[in-house]
Amino acid sequence: MAVIAVKLVALLAAVAAVQADRDPILPFHESARANANRIFNAIHSAGRQWGSSLNHNGFGFIPVVVPAGTSFYHGGYAEEPPRGIEWLAFEVEHAEFFARPPGGRHGHRPPCPGEGQLHLLADQAETDGGGCDEEGRVRGYLQTYHTTRDAQLLYLDGTSAGKTLIGTLDSQDEVLRQDDSRQGGIIEDEMKRAKALCDMVTEWGWDGIMRMEAGFEVIYCNFSSGLHLDSSLRTLLVEDRMKGDANLIPLWLRAAAERYDGIGGDRVRMDFSSMVSGFFFPINISSTDPERPDLVRLGAAKREHLQDIKAYLQSVFVEPRKFVVNWQAVVDMIVARFDKRLAAMASTSVSPDLFISELEGITLTYYEAPGVPGDITLAREEDDRNRTAEAIDRCAAHYLRPASPRQQEWTLSDALIHTSLTTVTQRICSDLFLMRAIFLGAVPDAAPDAYLIKRGVKSASMKQAVDESRAIARNLVQELAWTTRKKPQVCSEEEILLTAMWPFGDSVDHFNPGCVPFEEATARRRSYWQPLEQRPYVE
Ligand SMILES: *[C@@H]1O[C@H](CO)[C@@H](O)[C@H](O)[C@H]1NC(C)=O
Ligand SMILES: *[C@@H]1O[C@H](CO)[C@@H](O)[C@H](O)[C@H]1NC(C)=O
Ligand SMILES: *[C@@H]1O[C@H](CO)[C@@H](O)[C@H](O)[C@H]1NC(C)=O
Repeated sequence: MAVIAVKLVALLAAVAAVQADRDPILPFHESARANANRIFNAIHSAGRQWGSSLNHNGFGFIPVVVPAGTSFYHGGYAEEPPRGIEWLAFEVEHAEFFARPPGGRHGHRPPCPGEGQLHLLADQAETDGGGCDEEGRVRGYLQTYHTTRDAQLLYLDGTSAGKTLIGTLDSQDEVLRQDDSRQGGIIEDEMKRAKALCDMVTEWGWDGIMRMEAGFEVIYCNFSSGLHLDSSLRTLLVEDRMKGDANLIPLWLRAAAERYDGIGGDRVRMDFSSMVSGFFFPINISSTDPERPDLVRLGAAKREHLQDIKAYLQSVFVEPRKFVVNWQAVVDMIVARFDKRLAAMASTSVSPDLFISELEGITLTYYEAPGVPGDITLAREEDDRNRTAEAIDRCAAHYLRPASPRQQEWTLSDALIHTSLTTVTQRICSDLFLMRAIFLGAVPDAAPDAYLIKRGVKSASMKQAVDESRAIARNLVQELAWTTRKKPQVCSEEEILLTAMWPFGDSVDHFNPGCVPFEEATARRRSYWQPLEQRPYVE
Protein backbone atom coordinates (compact mmCIF):
# COMPACT_ATOMS: atom_id res chain seq x y z
CA MET A 1 0.00 0.00 0.00
CA ALA A 2 2.70 2.44 1.04
CA VAL A 3 4.68 1.38 -1.99
CA ILE A 4 1.77 2.08 -4.29
CA ALA A 5 1.27 5.46 -2.64
CA VAL A 6 4.91 6.33 -3.12
CA LYS A 7 4.73 5.34 -6.76
CA LEU A 8 1.60 7.38 -7.33
CA VAL A 9 3.12 10.38 -5.64
CA ALA A 10 6.36 10.03 -7.52
CA LEU A 11 4.38 9.88 -10.73
CA LEU A 12 2.36 12.98 -9.94
CA ALA A 13 5.39 14.88 -8.77
CA ALA A 14 7.26 13.81 -11.87
CA VAL A 15 4.50 15.33 -14.00
CA ALA A 16 4.84 18.61 -12.14
CA ALA A 17 8.58 18.46 -12.38
CA VAL A 18 8.61 17.86 -16.10
CA GLN A 19 6.59 21.04 -16.46
CA ALA A 20 8.99 22.82 -14.17
CA ASP A 21 12.06 21.11 -15.62
CA ARG A 22 13.50 19.96 -12.30
CA ASP A 23 13.26 17.15 -9.73
CA PRO A 24 10.56 17.81 -7.16
CA ILE A 25 11.30 17.23 -3.49
CA LEU A 26 9.39 14.38 -1.85
CA PRO A 27 8.81 13.19 1.72
CA PHE A 28 11.95 11.64 2.98
CA HIS A 29 12.63 9.34 5.94
CA GLU A 30 15.84 11.24 6.61
CA SER A 31 13.77 14.41 7.16
CA ALA A 32 11.36 12.53 9.41
CA ARG A 33 14.39 11.51 11.47
CA ALA A 34 15.98 14.96 11.46
CA ASN A 35 12.71 16.58 12.57
CA ALA A 36 11.66 13.69 14.81
CA ASN A 37 11.04 15.77 17.93
CA ARG A 38 9.02 18.37 16.04
CA ILE A 39 6.88 15.73 14.35
CA PHE A 40 6.35 13.95 17.67
CA ASN A 41 5.26 17.21 19.28
CA ALA A 42 3.01 18.17 16.34
CA ILE A 43 1.15 14.88 16.68
CA HIS A 44 0.92 15.33 20.44
CA SER A 45 -0.49 18.85 20.07
CA ALA A 46 -2.89 18.22 17.18
CA GLY A 47 -6.33 19.46 18.19
CA ARG A 48 -5.03 20.69 21.54
CA GLN A 49 -4.99 24.33 22.49
CA TRP A 50 -1.93 24.19 24.77
CA GLY A 51 0.81 22.81 22.55
CA SER A 52 -0.66 24.38 19.42
CA SER A 53 -0.42 27.79 21.07
CA LEU A 54 3.17 27.27 22.22
CA ASN A 55 4.34 25.83 18.89
CA HIS A 56 2.21 28.28 16.98
CA ASN A 57 3.80 28.00 13.56
CA GLY A 58 2.08 24.96 12.10
CA PHE A 59 3.72 22.69 9.53
CA GLY A 60 0.97 20.06 9.46
CA PHE A 61 -1.96 19.38 7.14
CA ILE A 62 -4.33 16.75 8.50
CA PRO A 63 -7.64 15.62 7.00
CA VAL A 64 -10.23 15.40 9.79
CA VAL A 65 -13.82 14.27 10.07
CA VAL A 66 -16.37 16.01 12.30
CA PRO A 67 -19.20 13.56 13.02
CA ALA A 68 -22.84 14.23 12.28
CA GLY A 69 -24.60 15.82 15.26
CA THR A 70 -21.70 18.06 16.33
CA SER A 71 -22.73 21.53 17.55
CA PHE A 72 -21.14 24.70 16.24
CA TYR A 73 -21.66 28.38 16.97
CA HIS A 74 -21.64 31.42 14.79
CA GLY A 75 -21.72 35.02 15.95
CA GLY A 76 -22.58 37.82 13.59
CA TYR A 77 -24.92 40.65 12.75
CA ALA A 78 -27.58 38.78 10.79
CA GLU A 79 -30.48 36.65 11.94
CA GLU A 80 -30.43 34.49 8.84
CA PRO A 81 -27.76 31.88 8.20
CA PRO A 82 -24.98 33.23 6.04
CA ARG A 83 -24.90 32.32 2.40
CA GLY A 84 -21.66 30.74 1.33
CA ILE A 85 -18.43 30.93 3.33
CA GLU A 86 -18.47 31.85 7.01
CA TRP A 87 -16.83 31.00 10.32
CA LEU A 88 -17.99 28.52 12.96
CA ALA A 89 -16.60 28.27 16.46
CA PHE A 90 -16.28 25.07 18.50
CA GLU A 91 -16.95 26.99 21.72
CA VAL A 92 -19.97 29.12 22.59
CA GLU A 93 -17.88 31.86 24.22
CA HIS A 94 -15.74 32.25 21.12
CA ALA A 95 -18.78 32.86 18.90
CA GLU A 96 -20.48 35.04 21.52
CA PHE A 97 -17.67 37.51 21.26
CA PHE A 98 -18.70 38.06 17.65
CA ALA A 99 -22.41 38.03 18.44
CA ARG A 100 -22.16 41.28 20.35
CA PRO A 101 -23.39 44.39 18.70
CA PRO A 102 -20.23 46.15 17.58
CA GLY A 103 -18.91 48.92 19.86
CA GLY A 104 -20.76 52.20 20.16
CA ARG A 105 -23.55 53.20 22.45
CA HIS A 106 -27.19 53.67 21.73
CA GLY A 107 -27.53 56.78 19.61
CA HIS A 108 -24.08 56.35 18.17
CA ARG A 109 -24.92 54.39 15.13
CA PRO A 110 -22.03 52.04 14.43
CA PRO A 111 -21.40 51.38 10.77
CA CYS A 112 -23.67 48.72 9.37
CA PRO A 113 -22.10 45.62 7.92
CA GLY A 114 -21.79 45.85 4.21
CA GLU A 115 -20.27 49.29 4.64
CA GLY A 116 -16.88 47.80 4.35
CA GLN A 117 -16.09 47.47 8.03
CA LEU A 118 -14.51 44.24 9.02
CA HIS A 119 -14.57 43.17 12.60
CA LEU A 120 -11.53 43.92 14.71
CA LEU A 121 -10.58 40.27 14.74
CA ALA A 122 -11.86 39.60 11.25
CA ASP A 123 -13.34 36.19 11.89
CA GLN A 124 -17.03 35.82 11.63
CA ALA A 125 -17.51 39.34 10.35
CA GLU A 126 -20.73 39.35 8.46
CA THR A 127 -20.39 39.98 4.81
CA ASP A 128 -23.95 39.71 3.68
CA GLY A 129 -25.35 42.88 5.21
CA GLY A 130 -28.57 42.98 7.19
CA GLY A 131 -28.73 43.26 10.94
CA CYS A 132 -29.39 47.01 11.07
CA ASP A 133 -32.69 47.94 12.67
CA GLU A 134 -34.77 50.92 11.58
CA GLU A 135 -32.68 53.39 13.52
CA GLY A 136 -29.66 51.91 11.88
CA ARG A 137 -28.66 50.06 15.03
CA VAL A 138 -26.70 46.88 14.43
CA ARG A 139 -27.88 43.86 16.37
CA GLY A 140 -25.87 40.79 17.10
CA TYR A 141 -27.04 37.20 16.75
CA LEU A 142 -25.78 33.96 18.18
CA GLN A 143 -26.53 31.09 15.84
CA THR A 144 -26.29 27.47 16.87
CA TYR A 145 -25.89 24.73 14.28
CA HIS A 146 -25.33 21.02 14.21
CA THR A 147 -23.81 18.98 11.45
CA THR A 148 -26.37 16.80 9.63
CA ARG A 149 -23.71 14.49 8.23
CA ASP A 150 -20.02 13.83 8.74
CA ALA A 151 -18.11 16.92 7.68
CA GLN A 152 -14.75 16.52 6.01
CA LEU A 153 -12.29 19.31 6.89
CA LEU A 154 -8.67 20.13 6.31
CA TYR A 155 -7.03 20.83 9.67
CA LEU A 156 -4.06 23.20 9.64
CA ASP A 157 -2.12 22.70 12.87
CA GLY A 158 -0.49 25.27 15.15
CA THR A 159 -2.18 28.65 15.64
CA SER A 160 -3.23 28.77 12.02
CA ALA A 161 -6.05 31.27 12.57
CA GLY A 162 -3.59 33.74 14.09
CA LYS A 163 -3.48 36.68 11.70
CA THR A 164 0.20 37.41 12.35
CA LEU A 165 3.38 38.01 10.38
CA ILE A 166 5.53 35.65 12.48
CA GLY A 167 4.69 32.42 10.66
CA THR A 168 1.25 31.29 11.81
CA LEU A 169 -0.19 31.80 8.32
CA ASP A 170 2.67 30.18 6.39
CA SER A 171 0.91 26.84 5.82
CA GLN A 172 -1.97 28.76 4.23
CA ASP A 173 -0.31 31.67 2.50
CA GLU A 174 3.00 30.12 1.51
CA VAL A 175 1.96 26.55 0.75
CA LEU A 176 -1.75 26.31 -0.07
CA ARG A 177 -2.37 29.75 -1.49
CA GLN A 178 0.98 30.97 -2.76
CA ASP A 179 -0.64 34.30 -3.43
CA ASP A 180 1.73 37.22 -3.69
CA SER A 181 -1.05 39.64 -4.41
CA ARG A 182 -1.70 40.34 -0.74
CA GLN A 183 -3.61 43.58 -0.62
CA GLY A 184 -4.33 45.67 2.38
CA GLY A 185 -3.54 44.40 5.84
CA ILE A 186 -3.30 40.83 6.92
CA ILE A 187 -6.81 40.98 8.41
CA GLU A 188 -8.46 42.41 5.31
CA ASP A 189 -6.84 39.55 3.49
CA GLU A 190 -8.74 37.00 5.57
CA MET A 191 -11.81 36.79 3.34
CA LYS A 192 -9.66 36.27 0.27
CA ARG A 193 -7.73 33.59 2.09
CA ALA A 194 -10.92 31.81 3.11
CA LYS A 195 -12.22 31.95 -0.45
CA ALA A 196 -9.01 30.53 -1.91
CA LEU A 197 -8.87 27.70 0.66
CA CYS A 198 -12.54 26.87 0.10
CA ASP A 199 -12.01 26.78 -3.66
CA MET A 200 -9.30 24.19 -3.06
CA VAL A 201 -11.05 21.91 -0.55
CA THR A 202 -14.50 21.98 -2.19
CA GLU A 203 -12.84 20.64 -5.29
CA TRP A 204 -12.02 17.52 -3.25
CA GLY A 205 -15.64 17.42 -2.03
CA TRP A 206 -14.68 18.64 1.46
CA ASP A 207 -16.57 21.11 3.63
CA GLY A 208 -14.03 23.49 5.07
CA ILE A 209 -10.87 24.25 6.97
CA MET A 210 -10.27 23.77 10.68
CA ARG A 211 -7.92 26.21 12.39
CA MET A 212 -7.06 27.51 15.85
CA GLU A 213 -6.64 30.87 17.54
CA ALA A 214 -7.94 31.42 21.09
CA GLY A 215 -10.34 28.55 20.40
CA PHE A 216 -10.79 26.18 17.49
CA GLU A 217 -12.85 27.24 14.50
CA VAL A 218 -13.95 26.15 11.07
CA ILE A 219 -14.04 28.11 7.86
CA TYR A 220 -17.19 26.45 6.57
CA CYS A 221 -17.47 26.73 2.81
CA ASN A 222 -21.20 26.32 2.21
CA PHE A 223 -23.63 26.93 5.06
CA SER A 224 -26.42 25.43 2.92
CA SER A 225 -24.78 22.03 2.95
CA GLY A 226 -24.44 19.69 5.92
CA LEU A 227 -25.55 22.14 8.61
CA HIS A 228 -28.85 22.51 10.45
CA LEU A 229 -29.67 25.83 12.11
CA ASP A 230 -30.95 25.03 15.61
CA SER A 231 -31.44 28.62 16.74
CA SER A 232 -30.59 32.20 15.97
CA LEU A 233 -30.95 34.41 19.03
CA ARG A 234 -30.73 38.19 19.02
CA THR A 235 -28.30 39.32 21.70
CA LEU A 236 -28.87 42.13 24.18
CA LEU A 237 -27.47 45.55 23.51
CA VAL A 238 -24.52 46.26 25.76
CA GLU A 239 -26.41 48.97 27.68
CA ASP A 240 -29.22 46.52 28.43
CA ARG A 241 -26.94 44.01 30.09
CA MET A 242 -26.55 44.13 33.85
CA LYS A 243 -22.80 44.12 33.60
CA GLY A 244 -21.88 45.34 30.12
CA ASP A 245 -19.46 43.05 28.37
CA ALA A 246 -16.30 43.75 30.32
CA ASN A 247 -15.68 40.10 31.11
CA LEU A 248 -16.35 38.64 27.68
CA ILE A 249 -12.67 38.14 26.93
CA PRO A 250 -11.69 36.36 30.16
CA LEU A 251 -14.74 34.13 29.73
CA TRP A 252 -13.70 33.37 26.17
CA LEU A 253 -10.10 32.68 27.22
CA ARG A 254 -11.22 30.37 30.00
CA ALA A 255 -13.39 28.44 27.55
CA ALA A 256 -10.46 28.12 25.14
CA ALA A 257 -8.22 27.02 28.03
CA GLU A 258 -10.64 24.17 28.78
CA ARG A 259 -9.40 22.71 25.47
CA TYR A 260 -5.71 22.77 26.35
CA ASP A 261 -5.66 18.97 26.31
CA GLY A 262 -8.10 18.40 23.47
CA ILE A 263 -11.28 19.63 21.82
CA GLY A 264 -13.26 16.97 23.66
CA GLY A 265 -16.72 15.58 23.03
CA ASP A 266 -15.46 13.29 20.23
CA ARG A 267 -15.95 16.25 17.93
CA VAL A 268 -12.98 15.68 15.64
CA ARG A 269 -11.41 12.52 14.27
CA MET A 270 -7.97 13.00 12.76
CA ASP A 271 -6.65 10.90 9.89
CA PHE A 272 -2.97 10.82 10.83
CA SER A 273 -2.46 8.19 8.12
CA SER A 274 -3.08 10.99 5.60
CA MET A 275 -1.13 13.64 7.48
CA VAL A 276 1.31 15.70 5.46
CA SER A 277 3.88 17.79 7.28
CA GLY A 278 6.46 20.26 6.05
CA PHE A 279 8.77 18.42 8.47
CA PHE A 280 8.62 15.35 6.18
CA PHE A 281 10.48 17.28 3.48
CA PRO A 282 14.13 18.28 3.09
CA ILE A 283 13.49 22.03 3.22
CA ASN A 284 15.09 24.97 4.95
CA ILE A 285 12.89 25.93 7.90
CA SER A 286 15.34 28.23 9.66
CA SER A 287 13.88 31.26 11.33
CA THR A 288 13.93 34.42 9.27
CA ASP A 289 14.05 36.48 12.46
CA PRO A 290 17.51 36.71 14.05
CA GLU A 291 15.91 37.62 17.39
CA ARG A 292 13.77 34.45 17.41
CA PRO A 293 16.01 31.61 16.24
CA ASP A 294 13.48 29.20 17.79
CA LEU A 295 10.79 30.34 15.37
CA VAL A 296 10.90 27.82 12.55
CA ARG A 297 8.69 28.62 9.61
CA LEU A 298 7.54 27.08 6.39
CA GLY A 299 7.88 30.45 4.72
CA ALA A 300 11.67 30.16 5.03
CA ALA A 301 11.76 27.39 2.40
CA LYS A 302 12.22 28.02 -1.28
CA ARG A 303 9.05 28.81 -3.19
CA GLU A 304 9.57 25.88 -5.56
CA HIS A 305 9.89 23.50 -2.62
CA LEU A 306 6.62 24.81 -1.22
CA GLN A 307 5.02 24.18 -4.60
CA ASP A 308 6.25 20.59 -4.45
CA ILE A 309 4.71 20.18 -0.99
CA LYS A 310 1.41 21.53 -2.29
CA ALA A 311 1.46 19.15 -5.26
CA TYR A 312 2.25 16.26 -2.93
CA LEU A 313 -0.49 17.00 -0.42
CA GLN A 314 -3.06 17.35 -3.19
CA SER A 315 -2.10 13.89 -4.40
CA VAL A 316 -2.57 12.47 -0.88
CA PHE A 317 -5.81 14.25 -0.07
CA VAL A 318 -7.75 13.19 -3.16
CA GLU A 319 -7.51 9.63 -1.87
CA PRO A 320 -10.14 8.29 0.55
CA ARG A 321 -9.61 8.63 4.29
CA LYS A 322 -7.44 5.95 5.86
CA PHE A 323 -7.38 6.09 9.70
CA VAL A 324 -4.91 3.19 9.84
CA VAL A 325 -3.16 4.23 13.07
CA ASN A 326 -4.17 6.81 15.66
CA TRP A 327 -0.66 8.11 16.21
CA GLN A 328 -1.75 10.63 18.82
CA ALA A 329 -2.78 7.74 21.07
CA VAL A 330 0.67 6.21 20.57
CA VAL A 331 2.39 9.49 21.42
CA ASP A 332 0.20 10.01 24.49
CA MET A 333 1.26 6.66 25.93
CA ILE A 334 4.92 7.58 25.48
CA VAL A 335 4.48 10.99 27.10
CA ALA A 336 2.52 9.52 30.00
CA ARG A 337 5.25 6.97 30.72
CA PHE A 338 8.28 9.23 30.47
CA ASP A 339 7.26 12.84 31.02
CA LYS A 340 7.10 13.13 34.82
CA ARG A 341 9.89 10.62 35.25
CA LEU A 342 12.35 12.49 33.04
CA ALA A 343 11.33 15.77 34.65
CA ALA A 344 12.10 14.32 38.09
CA MET A 345 15.45 13.02 36.90
CA ALA A 346 16.33 16.41 35.42
CA SER A 347 15.38 18.27 38.58
CA THR A 348 18.07 19.16 41.12
CA SER A 349 15.49 19.12 43.89
CA VAL A 350 15.07 15.36 43.58
CA SER A 351 17.26 13.32 45.94
CA PRO A 352 19.91 10.91 44.59
CA ASP A 353 17.91 8.02 46.08
CA LEU A 354 14.78 8.97 44.18
CA PHE A 355 16.84 9.57 41.04
CA ILE A 356 18.17 6.01 41.24
CA SER A 357 14.70 4.59 41.89
CA GLU A 358 13.36 6.41 38.84
CA LEU A 359 16.22 5.19 36.67
CA GLU A 360 15.99 1.59 37.83
CA GLY A 361 12.24 1.65 37.60
CA ILE A 362 12.25 2.64 33.96
CA THR A 363 15.25 0.63 32.74
CA LEU A 364 14.70 -2.67 34.52
CA THR A 365 11.26 -3.03 32.95
CA TYR A 366 13.07 -3.95 29.77
CA TYR A 367 16.11 -5.69 31.18
CA GLU A 368 16.32 -9.41 31.61
CA ALA A 369 18.27 -10.20 34.74
CA PRO A 370 21.08 -12.71 34.34
CA GLY A 371 20.66 -16.00 36.16
CA VAL A 372 22.61 -16.81 39.28
CA PRO A 373 23.75 -20.27 40.36
CA GLY A 374 21.03 -22.06 42.31
CA ASP A 375 18.12 -20.59 40.35
CA ILE A 376 15.41 -23.20 40.10
CA THR A 377 13.53 -21.67 37.19
CA LEU A 378 16.52 -21.09 35.00
CA ALA A 379 16.29 -21.51 31.31
CA ARG A 380 19.42 -22.37 29.38
CA GLU A 381 21.83 -19.44 29.55
CA GLU A 382 23.21 -17.86 26.43
CA ASP A 383 26.23 -15.98 27.61
CA ASP A 384 27.05 -13.98 24.55
CA ARG A 385 23.93 -11.87 24.77
CA ASN A 386 24.18 -8.12 25.12
CA ARG A 387 21.35 -7.62 27.59
CA THR A 388 21.64 -3.86 27.47
CA ALA A 389 21.28 -3.69 23.70
CA GLU A 390 18.29 -6.03 23.90
CA ALA A 391 16.72 -3.89 26.61
CA ILE A 392 17.13 -0.70 24.59
CA ASP A 393 15.42 -2.32 21.61
CA ARG A 394 12.59 -3.59 23.79
CA CYS A 395 12.17 -0.19 25.41
CA ALA A 396 12.18 1.70 22.10
CA ALA A 397 9.69 -0.68 20.46
CA HIS A 398 7.33 -0.99 23.44
CA TYR A 399 4.89 1.82 22.74
CA LEU A 400 5.08 1.54 18.97
CA ARG A 401 3.60 -1.96 19.22
CA PRO A 402 -0.06 -0.89 18.79
CA ALA A 403 0.81 0.39 15.31
CA SER A 404 2.33 -2.86 14.09
CA PRO A 405 -0.65 -5.20 13.54
CA ARG A 406 -1.75 -3.08 10.58
CA GLN A 407 1.71 -2.43 9.21
CA GLN A 408 0.73 -3.99 5.87
CA GLU A 409 -1.80 -1.20 5.45
CA TRP A 410 0.49 1.67 6.42
CA THR A 411 0.49 4.68 4.15
CA LEU A 412 3.67 6.61 3.49
CA SER A 413 2.49 9.07 6.19
CA ASP A 414 2.24 6.19 8.68
CA ALA A 415 5.73 5.01 7.78
CA LEU A 416 7.21 8.50 8.10
CA ILE A 417 5.51 9.10 11.46
CA HIS A 418 6.75 5.71 12.65
CA THR A 419 10.29 6.72 11.69
CA SER A 420 9.99 9.93 13.72
CA LEU A 421 8.46 8.25 16.76
CA THR A 422 11.01 5.45 16.89
CA THR A 423 13.79 8.03 16.56
CA VAL A 424 12.38 9.68 19.69
CA THR A 425 11.92 6.47 21.70
CA GLN A 426 15.36 5.18 20.71
CA ARG A 427 16.89 8.40 21.91
CA ILE A 428 15.04 8.27 25.23
CA CYS A 429 15.83 4.61 25.81
CA SER A 430 19.50 4.75 24.90
CA ASP A 431 19.97 7.81 27.13
CA LEU A 432 18.35 5.95 30.03
CA PHE A 433 20.62 2.94 29.59
CA LEU A 434 23.60 5.24 29.21
CA MET A 435 22.75 6.67 32.63
CA ARG A 436 22.47 3.16 34.02
CA ALA A 437 25.90 2.33 32.64
CA ILE A 438 27.30 5.42 34.35
CA PHE A 439 25.91 4.22 37.69
CA LEU A 440 27.13 0.69 37.22
CA GLY A 441 30.58 2.09 36.45
CA ALA A 442 30.42 4.10 39.68
CA VAL A 443 29.81 1.05 41.88
CA PRO A 444 33.26 -0.50 42.33
CA ASP A 445 32.26 -4.07 43.10
CA ALA A 446 29.41 -4.29 40.63
CA ALA A 447 29.41 -7.25 38.33
CA PRO A 448 29.31 -6.18 34.67
CA ASP A 449 25.66 -7.15 34.50
CA ALA A 450 24.66 -6.06 37.98
CA TYR A 451 20.93 -6.31 38.31
CA LEU A 452 20.56 -3.90 41.15
CA ILE A 453 22.24 -0.58 41.54
CA LYS A 454 23.43 -0.54 45.13
CA ARG A 455 21.35 1.83 47.17
CA GLY A 456 22.52 4.44 49.58
CA VAL A 457 26.08 4.50 48.33
CA LYS A 458 27.32 7.91 49.38
CA SER A 459 30.67 7.74 47.70
CA ALA A 460 32.04 10.61 45.67
CA SER A 461 31.85 8.51 42.52
CA MET A 462 28.16 7.93 43.15
CA LYS A 463 27.57 11.64 43.53
CA GLN A 464 29.40 12.20 40.29
CA ALA A 465 27.26 9.56 38.59
CA VAL A 466 24.12 11.39 39.73
CA ASP A 467 25.44 14.70 38.43
CA GLU A 468 26.48 13.26 35.08
CA SER A 469 23.19 11.43 34.62
CA ARG A 470 21.16 14.43 35.67
CA ALA A 471 22.91 16.46 33.00
CA ILE A 472 21.96 13.83 30.42
CA ALA A 473 18.35 13.89 31.63
CA ARG A 474 18.26 17.68 31.53
CA ASN A 475 19.60 17.76 28.01
CA LEU A 476 17.12 15.10 26.94
CA VAL A 477 14.15 16.97 28.42
CA GLN A 478 15.29 20.12 26.69
CA GLU A 479 15.66 18.48 23.30
CA LEU A 480 12.38 16.61 23.49
CA ALA A 481 10.73 19.98 24.24
CA TRP A 482 7.46 18.38 25.29
CA THR A 483 4.95 21.16 25.77
CA THR A 484 3.64 19.44 28.91
CA ARG A 485 6.83 20.69 30.62
CA LYS A 486 5.70 24.30 30.24
CA LYS A 487 2.49 23.68 32.11
CA PRO A 488 2.56 24.62 35.77
CA GLN A 489 2.37 21.38 37.74
CA VAL A 490 0.04 20.85 40.67
CA CYS A 491 2.60 18.86 42.65
CA SER A 492 6.41 18.90 42.78
CA GLU A 493 8.54 16.17 41.21
CA GLU A 494 8.80 14.38 44.55
CA GLU A 495 5.06 14.30 45.12
CA ILE A 496 2.02 12.46 43.80
CA LEU A 497 -1.41 14.01 43.35
CA LEU A 498 -3.24 11.41 45.40
CA THR A 499 -6.77 10.30 45.95
CA ALA A 500 -7.44 7.14 47.94
CA MET A 501 -7.16 4.26 45.45
CA TRP A 502 -7.74 0.86 46.99
CA PRO A 503 -5.77 -0.68 48.64
CA PHE A 504 -3.97 2.61 49.37
CA GLY A 505 -4.91 5.97 50.81
CA ASP A 506 -5.69 7.61 54.12
CA SER A 507 -8.99 9.30 54.88
CA VAL A 508 -7.48 12.67 54.04
CA ASP A 509 -6.75 11.40 50.53
CA HIS A 510 -10.41 10.57 50.03
CA PHE A 511 -11.94 13.65 51.61
CA ASN A 512 -9.26 16.16 50.63
CA PRO A 513 -7.06 14.77 47.85
CA GLY A 514 -3.78 16.63 47.43
CA CYS A 515 -0.04 16.34 46.90
CA VAL A 516 1.66 13.61 48.93
CA PRO A 517 5.46 13.24 49.13
CA PHE A 518 6.87 9.96 47.80
CA GLU A 519 8.13 8.93 51.21
CA GLU A 520 4.64 9.26 52.70
CA ALA A 521 2.95 7.37 49.88
CA THR A 522 3.75 3.98 51.38
CA ALA A 523 1.92 0.74 51.99
CA ARG A 524 1.09 1.97 55.49
CA ARG A 525 -1.04 4.72 53.98
CA ARG A 526 -4.38 2.90 53.93
CA SER A 527 -6.52 4.14 56.82
CA TYR A 528 -9.46 5.05 54.59
CA TRP A 529 -10.17 1.40 53.74
CA GLN A 530 -10.11 0.09 57.32
CA PRO A 531 -10.99 -2.43 58.54
CA LEU A 532 -9.05 -4.55 56.12
CA GLU A 533 -10.37 -8.05 55.55
CA GLN A 534 -7.29 -9.11 53.72
CA ARG A 535 -4.02 -7.42 53.13
CA PRO A 536 -2.85 -8.87 49.88
CA TYR A 537 -0.76 -5.91 48.77
CA VAL A 538 0.93 -4.85 51.98
CA GLU A 539 4.05 -5.95 53.77
C1 LIG B 1 -24.18 24.80 -1.43
O1 LIG B 1 -24.91 23.65 -1.07
C2 LIG B 1 -26.20 23.61 -1.64
C3 LIG B 1 -26.94 22.43 -1.02
O2 LIG B 1 -26.20 21.25 -1.18
C4 LIG B 1 -26.09 23.53 -3.15
O3 LIG B 1 -27.36 23.52 -3.75
C5 LIG B 1 -25.29 24.73 -3.66
O4 LIG B 1 -25.05 24.60 -5.05
C6 LIG B 1 -23.96 24.84 -2.90
N1 LIG B 1 -23.31 26.07 -3.27
C7 LIG B 1 -22.14 26.09 -3.83
C8 LIG B 1 -21.58 27.44 -4.14
O5 LIG B 1 -21.50 25.08 -4.07
C1 LIG C 1 18.08 28.80 5.40
O1 LIG C 1 17.33 29.99 5.60
C2 LIG C 1 17.96 30.96 6.42
C3 LIG C 1 17.00 32.09 6.68
O2 LIG C 1 16.36 32.49 5.52
C4 LIG C 1 19.25 31.41 5.74
O3 LIG C 1 19.92 32.35 6.55
C5 LIG C 1 20.14 30.19 5.51
O4 LIG C 1 21.28 30.57 4.79
C6 LIG C 1 19.40 29.10 4.75
N1 LIG C 1 20.20 27.89 4.73
C7 LIG C 1 20.40 27.18 3.63
C8 LIG C 1 21.24 25.96 3.77
O5 LIG C 1 19.94 27.51 2.55
C1 LIG D 1 25.99 -3.70 24.54
O1 LIG D 1 25.16 -2.72 23.92
C2 LIG D 1 25.33 -1.41 24.43
C3 LIG D 1 24.25 -0.53 23.80
O2 LIG D 1 24.21 -0.68 22.42
C4 LIG D 1 26.72 -0.92 24.11
O3 LIG D 1 26.91 0.39 24.60
C5 LIG D 1 27.73 -1.87 24.76
O4 LIG D 1 29.03 -1.49 24.40
C6 LIG D 1 27.46 -3.32 24.34
N1 LIG D 1 28.28 -4.18 25.17
C7 LIG D 1 29.07 -5.11 24.62
C8 LIG D 1 29.84 -5.92 25.59
O5 LIG D 1 29.17 -5.27 23.42
